[in-house]
Amino acid sequence: MSTILAIDQGTSGTKAIVVDTVDGTLAIAEEAVRPAYLDGGGVEQDPGELLNSVLGAGRRAVAAAGRPIDCVALANQGETVLAWDPATGAPLSAAIVWQDRRAERICAELADHAAWVAQRTGLVLDPYFSAPKMAWLRRHVTRQGVVTTTDTWLVHHLTGAFVTDAATASRSLLLGLDAVDWDPELAELFGLTGERLPRIVACDEIVGTTRAFGDEVPVAGLIVDQQAALLAEACLAPGTAKCTYGTGAFLLANTGSTAVRSASGLTTSVAWRAAGGTPYCVDGQVYTAASAIRWMQDLGFLGTATDLDAVAARDAEGVLCVPALAGLAAPWWRPAATATFTGMTLSTRREHLVRAVLEGIAAQVAELCRLVEADLGAPVTRLRADGGLTGSRTLMQAQADLAQVPVDIYPSGHATALGAAALARLALSPGLGLTEAVGAWRPATVHEPVWPADRAAEFRARWIATVEAYPGKGGTP
Ligand code: G3P
Repeated sequence: MSTILAIDQGTSGTKAIVVDTVDGTLAIAEEAVRPAYLDGGGVEQDPGELLNSVLGAGRRAVAAAGRPIDCVALANQGETVLAWDPATGAPLSAAIVWQDRRAERICAELADHAAWVAQRTGLVLDPYFSAPKMAWLRRHVTRQGVVTTTDTWLVHHLTGAFVTDAATASRSLLLGLDAVDWDPELAELFGLTGERLPRIVACDEIVGTTRAFGDEVPVAGLIVDQQAALLAEACLAPGTAKCTYGTGAFLLANTGSTAVRSASGLTTSVAWRAAGGTPYCVDGQVYTAASAIRWMQDLGFLGTATDLDAVAARDAEGVLCVPALAGLAAPWWRPAATATFTGMTLSTRREHLVRAVLEGIAAQVAELCRLVEADLGAPVTRLRADGGLTGSRTLMQAQADLAQVPVDIYPSGHATALGAAALARLALSPGLGLTEAVGAWRPATVHEPVWPADRAAEFRARWIATVEAYPGKGGTP
Protein backbone atom coordinates (compact mmCIF):
# COMPACT_ATOMS: atom_id res chain seq x y z
CA MET A 1 0.00 0.00 0.00
CA SER A 2 1.41 3.40 -0.99
CA THR A 3 0.48 6.79 0.40
CA ILE A 4 0.33 9.36 -2.38
CA LEU A 5 0.29 13.14 -2.27
CA ALA A 6 -1.73 14.00 -5.39
CA ILE A 7 -1.85 17.65 -6.40
CA ASP A 8 -4.40 19.10 -8.81
CA GLN A 9 -3.02 22.44 -9.97
CA GLY A 10 -6.15 23.94 -11.62
CA THR A 11 -7.15 27.28 -13.06
CA SER A 12 -8.99 28.56 -10.01
CA GLY A 13 -6.94 26.87 -7.33
CA THR A 14 -4.63 24.10 -6.23
CA LYS A 15 -5.98 21.11 -4.37
CA ALA A 16 -3.72 18.60 -2.64
CA ILE A 17 -4.93 15.29 -1.25
CA VAL A 18 -3.12 12.54 0.59
CA VAL A 19 -4.62 9.20 -0.34
CA ASP A 20 -4.03 5.49 0.03
CA THR A 21 -5.95 2.47 -1.16
CA VAL A 22 -7.03 1.30 2.29
CA ASP A 23 -8.14 4.46 4.10
CA GLY A 24 -9.03 6.50 0.99
CA THR A 25 -8.53 10.25 1.21
CA LEU A 26 -6.63 11.02 4.42
CA ALA A 27 -6.24 14.79 4.09
CA ILE A 28 -7.17 17.65 1.78
CA ALA A 29 -5.75 21.16 1.51
CA GLU A 30 -6.67 23.82 -1.02
CA GLU A 31 -5.33 27.21 -2.04
CA ALA A 32 -7.18 29.57 -4.36
CA VAL A 33 -5.33 31.11 -7.32
CA ARG A 34 -7.39 33.83 -8.93
CA PRO A 35 -6.52 34.60 -12.56
CA ALA A 36 -6.35 38.25 -13.66
CA TYR A 37 -8.87 39.02 -16.43
CA LEU A 38 -7.44 41.70 -18.69
CA ASP A 39 -9.19 43.89 -21.23
CA GLY A 40 -9.15 42.31 -24.68
CA GLY A 41 -9.54 38.70 -23.52
CA GLY A 42 -6.24 38.28 -21.67
CA VAL A 43 -6.21 35.86 -18.72
CA GLU A 44 -3.00 35.65 -16.66
CA GLN A 45 -1.71 34.06 -13.49
CA ASP A 46 1.33 34.83 -11.37
CA PRO A 47 3.66 31.80 -11.72
CA GLY A 48 5.00 32.39 -8.21
CA GLU A 49 1.47 32.14 -6.86
CA LEU A 50 0.98 28.84 -8.72
CA LEU A 51 4.20 27.37 -7.30
CA ASN A 52 3.48 28.62 -3.78
CA SER A 53 -0.01 27.16 -3.94
CA VAL A 54 1.42 23.76 -4.94
CA LEU A 55 3.98 23.85 -2.12
CA GLY A 56 1.57 25.32 0.41
CA ALA A 57 -1.38 23.02 -0.27
CA GLY A 58 0.93 19.99 -0.57
CA ARG A 59 2.67 20.67 2.73
CA ARG A 60 -0.57 21.33 4.58
CA ALA A 61 -2.11 18.11 3.25
CA VAL A 62 0.92 16.06 4.28
CA ALA A 63 0.92 17.65 7.74
CA ALA A 64 -2.80 16.96 8.15
CA ALA A 65 -2.42 13.33 7.02
CA GLY A 66 0.13 12.80 9.77
CA ARG A 67 1.97 10.04 7.95
CA PRO A 68 4.87 9.96 5.49
CA ILE A 69 4.11 9.90 1.79
CA ASP A 70 5.65 7.56 -0.78
CA CYS A 71 5.18 9.61 -3.95
CA VAL A 72 4.00 12.96 -5.33
CA ALA A 73 1.66 13.12 -8.35
CA LEU A 74 0.70 16.27 -10.23
CA ALA A 75 -2.21 17.08 -12.55
CA ASN A 76 -1.98 20.34 -14.48
CA GLN A 77 -4.17 22.86 -16.31
CA GLY A 78 -3.03 21.63 -19.71
CA GLU A 79 -2.54 24.58 -22.02
CA THR A 80 -1.35 27.36 -19.70
CA VAL A 81 2.17 28.49 -20.66
CA LEU A 82 5.00 30.68 -19.41
CA ALA A 83 8.57 31.64 -20.28
CA TRP A 84 11.20 30.81 -17.68
CA ASP A 85 14.93 30.57 -17.14
CA PRO A 86 15.99 26.91 -16.98
CA ALA A 87 19.22 27.84 -15.16
CA THR A 88 17.48 29.47 -12.21
CA GLY A 89 13.84 28.41 -12.59
CA ALA A 90 12.83 32.09 -12.45
CA PRO A 91 9.75 33.04 -14.48
CA LEU A 92 10.33 35.39 -17.43
CA SER A 93 6.64 36.05 -18.06
CA ALA A 94 3.23 35.75 -16.50
CA ALA A 95 1.49 32.42 -16.96
CA ILE A 96 -0.81 32.88 -19.96
CA VAL A 97 -3.91 30.89 -19.08
CA TRP A 98 -5.67 28.52 -21.50
CA GLN A 99 -8.71 30.85 -21.55
CA ASP A 100 -6.55 33.73 -22.85
CA ARG A 101 -7.45 34.77 -26.41
CA ARG A 102 -4.62 37.13 -27.29
CA ALA A 103 -3.03 34.59 -29.68
CA GLU A 104 -6.15 34.77 -31.83
CA ARG A 105 -4.28 36.78 -34.46
CA ILE A 106 -1.49 34.20 -34.67
CA CYS A 107 -4.09 31.51 -35.32
CA ALA A 108 -5.78 33.67 -37.95
CA GLU A 109 -2.44 34.15 -39.75
CA LEU A 110 -2.05 30.36 -39.97
CA ALA A 111 -5.63 29.67 -41.03
CA ASP A 112 -4.55 28.26 -44.42
CA HIS A 113 -2.80 25.43 -42.58
CA ALA A 114 -5.76 24.51 -40.39
CA ALA A 115 -6.66 21.24 -42.13
CA TRP A 116 -3.07 19.99 -42.12
CA VAL A 117 -2.63 20.96 -38.48
CA ALA A 118 -5.85 19.18 -37.53
CA GLN A 119 -4.77 16.02 -39.30
CA ARG A 120 -1.30 16.10 -37.74
CA THR A 121 -2.29 17.05 -34.17
CA GLY A 122 -5.98 16.12 -33.75
CA LEU A 123 -6.53 19.72 -32.56
CA VAL A 124 -7.96 22.92 -33.95
CA LEU A 125 -5.97 26.12 -34.59
CA ASP A 126 -7.29 28.03 -31.61
CA PRO A 127 -5.63 30.24 -28.99
CA TYR A 128 -6.82 27.76 -26.33
CA PHE A 129 -3.97 25.37 -27.12
CA SER A 130 -0.38 25.91 -25.99
CA ALA A 131 1.62 26.67 -29.16
CA PRO A 132 -0.16 29.88 -30.25
CA LYS A 133 0.35 31.33 -26.78
CA MET A 134 4.00 30.17 -26.77
CA ALA A 135 4.46 31.94 -30.12
CA TRP A 136 2.76 35.05 -28.69
CA LEU A 137 5.18 35.09 -25.74
CA ARG A 138 8.14 34.79 -28.13
CA ARG A 139 6.86 37.64 -30.31
CA HIS A 140 5.76 40.02 -27.60
CA VAL A 141 7.48 39.25 -24.30
CA THR A 142 10.89 37.54 -24.41
CA ARG A 143 13.31 35.53 -26.56
CA GLN A 144 15.13 34.36 -23.41
CA GLY A 145 14.86 31.02 -21.61
CA VAL A 146 12.34 28.32 -22.46
CA VAL A 147 8.60 28.49 -23.06
CA THR A 148 6.62 25.55 -21.71
CA THR A 149 3.37 24.56 -20.11
CA THR A 150 3.13 25.10 -16.34
CA ASP A 151 3.59 21.41 -15.48
CA THR A 152 7.15 21.43 -16.85
CA TRP A 153 8.01 24.49 -14.78
CA LEU A 154 6.44 23.13 -11.59
CA VAL A 155 8.09 19.72 -11.96
CA HIS A 156 11.43 21.45 -12.64
CA HIS A 157 11.05 23.24 -9.30
CA LEU A 158 10.21 19.98 -7.54
CA THR A 159 12.82 17.70 -9.15
CA GLY A 160 15.12 19.56 -11.54
CA ALA A 161 13.76 17.47 -14.46
CA PHE A 162 12.69 19.05 -17.78
CA VAL A 163 9.70 16.95 -18.78
CA THR A 164 6.06 16.94 -19.75
CA ASP A 165 3.72 13.95 -20.01
CA ALA A 166 2.34 12.60 -23.29
CA ALA A 167 -1.24 13.71 -22.55
CA THR A 168 -0.26 17.30 -21.74
CA ALA A 169 2.02 17.39 -24.79
CA SER A 170 -0.93 16.35 -26.94
CA ARG A 171 -2.70 19.62 -26.00
CA SER A 172 0.08 21.75 -27.47
CA LEU A 173 -0.39 21.75 -31.28
CA LEU A 174 3.31 20.76 -31.43
CA LEU A 175 2.83 17.01 -31.06
CA GLY A 176 2.36 14.57 -33.93
CA LEU A 177 -0.62 12.68 -32.55
CA ASP A 178 0.13 9.30 -34.11
CA ALA A 179 3.87 9.31 -33.33
CA VAL A 180 3.28 10.90 -29.90
CA ASP A 181 6.42 12.97 -30.42
CA TRP A 182 7.33 16.60 -31.03
CA ASP A 183 6.91 17.42 -34.70
CA PRO A 184 9.55 19.82 -36.13
CA GLU A 185 7.21 20.93 -38.95
CA LEU A 186 4.65 22.07 -36.41
CA ALA A 187 7.32 23.92 -34.43
CA GLU A 188 8.37 25.66 -37.66
CA LEU A 189 4.78 26.64 -38.44
CA PHE A 190 4.48 28.44 -35.10
CA GLY A 191 7.92 30.05 -35.43
CA LEU A 192 9.21 27.86 -32.60
CA THR A 193 12.03 26.10 -34.44
CA GLY A 194 15.03 25.61 -32.18
CA GLU A 195 13.00 25.89 -28.99
CA ARG A 196 14.12 23.53 -26.26
CA LEU A 197 11.09 21.33 -25.63
CA PRO A 198 10.73 19.06 -22.60
CA ARG A 199 11.26 15.31 -22.78
CA ILE A 200 7.91 13.56 -23.20
CA VAL A 201 7.34 11.01 -20.46
CA ALA A 202 4.74 8.38 -19.72
CA CYS A 203 2.15 9.38 -17.14
CA ASP A 204 3.25 6.52 -14.88
CA GLU A 205 6.97 7.28 -15.15
CA ILE A 206 9.06 8.33 -12.15
CA VAL A 207 10.60 11.58 -13.38
CA GLY A 208 12.76 12.43 -10.36
CA THR A 209 12.60 12.93 -6.64
CA THR A 210 11.63 15.84 -4.40
CA ARG A 211 12.17 16.98 -0.82
CA ALA A 212 9.58 19.74 -1.18
CA PHE A 213 7.06 17.96 1.07
CA GLY A 214 9.35 16.31 3.63
CA ASP A 215 11.59 13.27 3.10
CA GLU A 216 12.85 12.60 -0.41
CA VAL A 217 10.18 10.79 -2.46
CA PRO A 218 9.67 10.06 -6.17
CA VAL A 219 7.54 12.26 -8.40
CA ALA A 220 5.31 10.30 -10.83
CA GLY A 221 1.78 10.53 -12.12
CA LEU A 222 2.01 13.58 -14.36
CA ILE A 223 -1.06 14.25 -16.47
CA VAL A 224 -3.32 17.00 -17.77
CA ASP A 225 -6.30 17.49 -15.46
CA GLN A 226 -9.16 16.50 -17.80
CA GLN A 227 -7.54 13.22 -18.70
CA ALA A 228 -6.82 12.60 -15.00
CA ALA A 229 -10.54 12.87 -14.31
CA LEU A 230 -11.31 10.58 -17.28
CA LEU A 231 -9.05 7.99 -15.69
CA ALA A 232 -10.43 8.47 -12.16
CA GLU A 233 -13.96 7.99 -13.49
CA ALA A 234 -12.77 4.67 -14.92
CA CYS A 235 -13.57 5.64 -18.51
CA LEU A 236 -11.21 2.88 -19.58
CA ALA A 237 -13.34 1.32 -22.32
CA PRO A 238 -13.82 2.97 -25.73
CA GLY A 239 -17.08 4.89 -25.78
CA THR A 240 -17.17 5.75 -22.06
CA ALA A 241 -17.47 9.49 -21.42
CA LYS A 242 -17.22 11.97 -18.59
CA CYS A 243 -17.69 15.68 -18.13
CA THR A 244 -15.78 17.65 -15.51
CA TYR A 245 -17.51 20.85 -14.40
CA GLY A 246 -14.63 23.02 -13.20
CA THR A 247 -13.53 26.48 -14.32
CA GLY A 248 -14.66 25.28 -17.73
CA ALA A 249 -16.61 22.11 -18.52
CA PHE A 250 -14.84 19.43 -20.52
CA LEU A 251 -16.46 16.37 -22.05
CA LEU A 252 -14.03 13.58 -22.91
CA ALA A 253 -14.74 10.15 -24.39
CA ASN A 254 -12.23 7.33 -24.57
CA THR A 255 -11.63 6.12 -28.15
CA GLY A 256 -9.20 3.31 -27.33
CA SER A 257 -6.01 2.87 -29.32
CA THR A 258 -7.40 4.78 -32.32
CA ALA A 259 -6.66 8.48 -32.58
CA VAL A 260 -10.04 9.22 -34.17
CA ARG A 261 -9.94 12.47 -36.17
CA SER A 262 -13.19 14.19 -35.32
CA ALA A 263 -15.51 14.88 -38.23
CA SER A 264 -17.73 17.02 -36.03
CA GLY A 265 -15.46 19.70 -34.62
CA LEU A 266 -14.24 17.98 -31.46
CA THR A 267 -10.52 17.55 -30.77
CA THR A 268 -8.47 14.42 -30.18
CA SER A 269 -5.72 13.95 -27.62
CA VAL A 270 -3.76 11.29 -25.82
CA ALA A 271 -5.88 10.09 -22.90
CA TRP A 272 -2.81 8.88 -21.03
CA ARG A 273 0.37 6.93 -21.65
CA ALA A 274 0.47 4.37 -18.87
CA ALA A 275 0.65 0.64 -18.14
CA GLY A 276 2.30 0.19 -21.53
CA GLY A 277 -0.63 1.64 -23.51
CA THR A 278 -1.50 4.95 -25.13
CA PRO A 279 -5.27 5.28 -25.51
CA TYR A 280 -6.77 8.42 -27.06
CA CYS A 281 -9.86 10.48 -26.35
CA VAL A 282 -12.05 12.99 -28.16
CA ASP A 283 -12.93 16.09 -26.22
CA GLY A 284 -15.24 19.06 -26.33
CA GLN A 285 -14.90 22.21 -24.29
CA VAL A 286 -17.14 24.76 -22.58
CA TYR A 287 -14.67 27.52 -21.76
CA THR A 288 -16.69 29.08 -18.97
CA ALA A 289 -18.59 26.97 -16.42
CA ALA A 290 -17.51 27.84 -12.84
CA SER A 291 -15.93 31.00 -14.24
CA ALA A 292 -19.41 32.01 -15.51
CA ILE A 293 -20.73 31.37 -12.01
CA ARG A 294 -17.87 33.42 -10.56
CA TRP A 295 -18.77 36.20 -13.01
CA MET A 296 -22.37 36.16 -11.70
CA GLN A 297 -21.03 36.30 -8.14
CA ASP A 298 -18.90 39.31 -9.06
CA LEU A 299 -22.02 40.98 -10.47
CA GLY A 300 -23.84 40.31 -7.20
CA PHE A 301 -26.32 37.77 -8.64
CA LEU A 302 -25.43 35.25 -5.95
CA GLY A 303 -23.18 34.94 -2.91
CA THR A 304 -21.34 31.67 -3.55
CA ALA A 305 -21.67 28.76 -5.96
CA THR A 306 -23.44 26.82 -3.22
CA ASP A 307 -26.33 29.33 -3.51
CA LEU A 308 -27.04 28.27 -7.09
CA ASP A 309 -29.91 25.91 -6.36
CA ALA A 310 -31.54 28.34 -3.94
CA VAL A 311 -31.29 31.29 -6.31
CA ALA A 312 -32.00 29.72 -9.73
CA ALA A 313 -35.65 30.01 -10.81
CA ARG A 314 -37.52 26.78 -11.56
CA ASP A 315 -38.05 28.07 -15.08
CA ALA A 316 -36.02 30.69 -16.97
CA GLU A 317 -39.29 32.11 -18.42
CA GLY A 318 -37.93 32.24 -21.95
CA VAL A 319 -34.50 33.68 -21.11
CA LEU A 320 -31.71 31.90 -22.96
CA CYS A 321 -27.99 32.31 -22.31
CA VAL A 322 -24.97 31.38 -24.40
CA PRO A 323 -22.30 31.68 -21.68
CA ALA A 324 -19.44 32.36 -24.13
CA LEU A 325 -17.60 34.73 -21.78
CA ALA A 326 -14.23 33.55 -23.13
CA GLY A 327 -15.16 32.58 -26.69
CA LEU A 328 -16.69 29.37 -28.00
CA ALA A 329 -14.87 26.10 -28.58
CA ALA A 330 -16.13 22.87 -30.16
CA PRO A 331 -17.78 22.72 -32.60
CA TRP A 332 -17.91 26.45 -33.42
CA TRP A 333 -14.32 27.47 -32.65
CA ARG A 334 -15.05 31.18 -32.41
CA PRO A 335 -12.48 32.74 -30.08
CA ALA A 336 -14.14 36.14 -30.57
CA ALA A 337 -17.63 34.95 -29.57
CA THR A 338 -19.19 36.79 -26.64
CA ALA A 339 -21.86 35.80 -24.15
CA THR A 340 -25.52 36.60 -24.84
CA PHE A 341 -28.79 36.65 -22.95
CA THR A 342 -31.94 36.71 -25.06
CA GLY A 343 -35.64 36.66 -24.25
CA MET A 344 -35.53 39.18 -21.39
CA THR A 345 -38.53 41.31 -20.46
CA LEU A 346 -39.33 43.77 -17.66
CA SER A 347 -40.38 40.82 -15.51
CA THR A 348 -37.01 39.07 -15.87
CA ARG A 349 -35.27 38.75 -12.51
CA ARG A 350 -31.81 37.60 -11.51
CA GLU A 351 -33.25 34.14 -10.71
CA HIS A 352 -34.14 33.71 -14.38
CA LEU A 353 -30.69 34.86 -15.49
CA VAL A 354 -28.99 32.44 -13.10
CA ARG A 355 -31.15 29.59 -14.36
CA ALA A 356 -30.44 30.59 -17.97
CA VAL A 357 -26.67 30.48 -17.36
CA LEU A 358 -26.95 26.97 -15.88
CA GLU A 359 -29.12 25.82 -18.78
CA GLY A 360 -26.66 27.42 -21.20
CA ILE A 361 -23.77 25.40 -19.77
CA ALA A 362 -25.87 22.23 -19.86
CA ALA A 363 -27.05 22.91 -23.43
CA GLN A 364 -23.47 23.29 -24.60
CA VAL A 365 -22.44 20.01 -22.94
CA ALA A 366 -25.52 18.31 -24.44
CA GLU A 367 -24.38 19.48 -27.86
CA LEU A 368 -20.94 18.01 -27.19
CA CYS A 369 -22.58 14.66 -26.32
CA ARG A 370 -24.26 14.67 -29.72
CA LEU A 371 -20.92 15.30 -31.43
CA VAL A 372 -19.21 12.51 -29.48
CA GLU A 373 -21.96 10.17 -30.64
CA ALA A 374 -21.37 11.26 -34.25
CA ASP A 375 -17.62 10.64 -33.98
CA LEU A 376 -17.89 7.32 -32.18
CA GLY A 377 -20.85 6.09 -34.21
CA ALA A 378 -22.56 4.98 -31.01
CA PRO A 379 -24.86 6.68 -28.52
CA VAL A 380 -23.55 8.10 -25.26
CA THR A 381 -25.90 6.17 -22.97
CA ARG A 382 -24.77 7.66 -19.65
CA LEU A 383 -22.66 10.65 -18.71
CA ARG A 384 -20.26 10.45 -15.77
CA ALA A 385 -19.79 13.81 -14.08
CA ASP A 386 -17.35 15.29 -11.60
CA GLY A 387 -16.09 18.70 -10.51
CA GLY A 388 -17.32 21.38 -8.13
CA LEU A 389 -20.44 22.31 -10.09
CA THR A 390 -21.83 18.77 -9.85
CA GLY A 391 -22.93 20.03 -6.41
CA SER A 392 -25.67 22.00 -8.17
CA ARG A 393 -28.77 19.80 -8.52
CA THR A 394 -30.26 22.37 -10.87
CA LEU A 395 -27.32 22.16 -13.26
CA MET A 396 -27.07 18.37 -13.14
CA GLN A 397 -30.83 17.94 -13.66
CA ALA A 398 -30.69 20.36 -16.59
CA GLN A 399 -27.80 18.29 -17.93
CA ALA A 400 -29.78 15.05 -17.74
CA ASP A 401 -32.82 16.73 -19.31
CA LEU A 402 -30.97 18.41 -22.17
CA ALA A 403 -28.61 15.52 -22.99
CA GLN A 404 -31.44 13.03 -22.41
CA VAL A 405 -29.14 10.61 -20.60
CA PRO A 406 -28.73 9.71 -16.94
CA VAL A 407 -25.93 11.66 -15.27
CA ASP A 408 -23.85 9.71 -12.74
CA ILE A 409 -22.25 11.96 -10.14
CA TYR A 410 -18.75 10.89 -9.08
CA PRO A 411 -18.72 10.30 -5.32
CA SER A 412 -15.59 12.35 -4.57
CA GLY A 413 -14.90 16.01 -5.18
CA HIS A 414 -11.32 15.12 -6.11
CA ALA A 415 -11.52 13.10 -9.33
CA THR A 416 -8.60 14.88 -10.97
CA ALA A 417 -6.25 14.32 -8.04
CA LEU A 418 -7.43 10.72 -7.71
CA GLY A 419 -6.62 10.11 -11.39
CA ALA A 420 -3.09 11.40 -10.87
CA ALA A 421 -2.79 9.26 -7.73
CA ALA A 422 -3.77 6.15 -9.70
CA LEU A 423 -0.93 6.86 -12.13
CA ALA A 424 1.54 7.29 -9.28
CA ARG A 425 0.36 3.96 -7.89
CA LEU A 426 1.12 2.36 -11.28
CA ALA A 427 4.58 3.95 -11.25
CA LEU A 428 5.34 2.47 -7.83
CA SER A 429 3.85 -0.96 -8.66
CA PRO A 430 4.38 -1.53 -12.38
CA GLY A 431 2.69 -4.96 -12.23
CA LEU A 432 -0.62 -3.36 -11.33
CA GLY A 433 -3.24 -3.05 -14.09
CA LEU A 434 -5.03 0.23 -14.86
CA THR A 435 -8.35 -1.12 -13.61
CA GLU A 436 -6.82 -2.11 -10.29
CA ALA A 437 -4.92 1.16 -9.92
CA VAL A 438 -8.09 3.19 -10.51
CA GLY A 439 -10.54 1.05 -8.54
CA ALA A 440 -14.30 0.77 -8.88
CA TRP A 441 -16.76 3.51 -7.95
CA ARG A 442 -20.49 3.95 -7.58
CA PRO A 443 -22.28 7.21 -8.35
CA ALA A 444 -23.17 9.29 -5.31
CA THR A 445 -26.34 10.39 -7.13
CA VAL A 446 -27.92 9.66 -10.49
CA HIS A 447 -29.92 12.36 -12.26
CA GLU A 448 -32.42 10.79 -14.64
CA PRO A 449 -33.95 12.91 -17.42
CA VAL A 450 -37.46 14.10 -16.57
CA TRP A 451 -38.06 16.31 -19.60
CA PRO A 452 -39.64 14.52 -22.54
CA ALA A 453 -37.38 14.21 -25.60
CA ASP A 454 -39.36 16.72 -27.68
CA ARG A 455 -39.03 19.43 -24.99
CA ALA A 456 -35.25 18.86 -24.88
CA ALA A 457 -35.01 18.95 -28.69
CA GLU A 458 -37.03 22.18 -28.87
CA PHE A 459 -34.84 23.85 -26.23
CA ARG A 460 -31.64 22.74 -27.93
CA ALA A 461 -32.82 23.98 -31.32
CA ARG A 462 -33.61 27.43 -29.83
CA TRP A 463 -30.28 27.49 -28.04
CA ILE A 464 -28.31 26.59 -31.19
CA ALA A 465 -30.22 29.23 -33.15
CA THR A 466 -29.09 31.78 -30.57
CA VAL A 467 -25.46 30.69 -30.92
CA GLU A 468 -25.71 31.05 -34.69
CA ALA A 469 -27.33 34.48 -34.52
CA TYR A 470 -24.96 36.34 -32.22
CA PRO A 471 -21.58 38.11 -32.29
CA GLY A 472 -18.31 36.39 -32.96
CA LYS A 473 -19.89 34.00 -35.43
CA GLY A 474 -17.80 33.09 -38.38
CA GLY A 475 -16.78 29.47 -37.88
CA THR A 476 -19.02 26.68 -39.01
CA PRO A 477 -19.97 23.68 -36.91
O1 G3P B 1 -8.09 22.80 -20.68
C1 G3P B 1 -8.18 23.52 -19.50
C2 G3P B 1 -8.72 22.68 -18.38
O2 G3P B 1 -8.11 21.44 -18.35
C3 G3P B 1 -8.65 23.39 -17.07
O3 G3P B 1 -9.31 22.67 -16.10
O4 G3P B 1 -10.27 22.31 -13.88
O5 G3P B 1 -8.77 24.21 -14.27
O6 G3P B 1 -11.09 24.13 -15.26
P1 G3P B 1 -9.89 23.40 -14.79
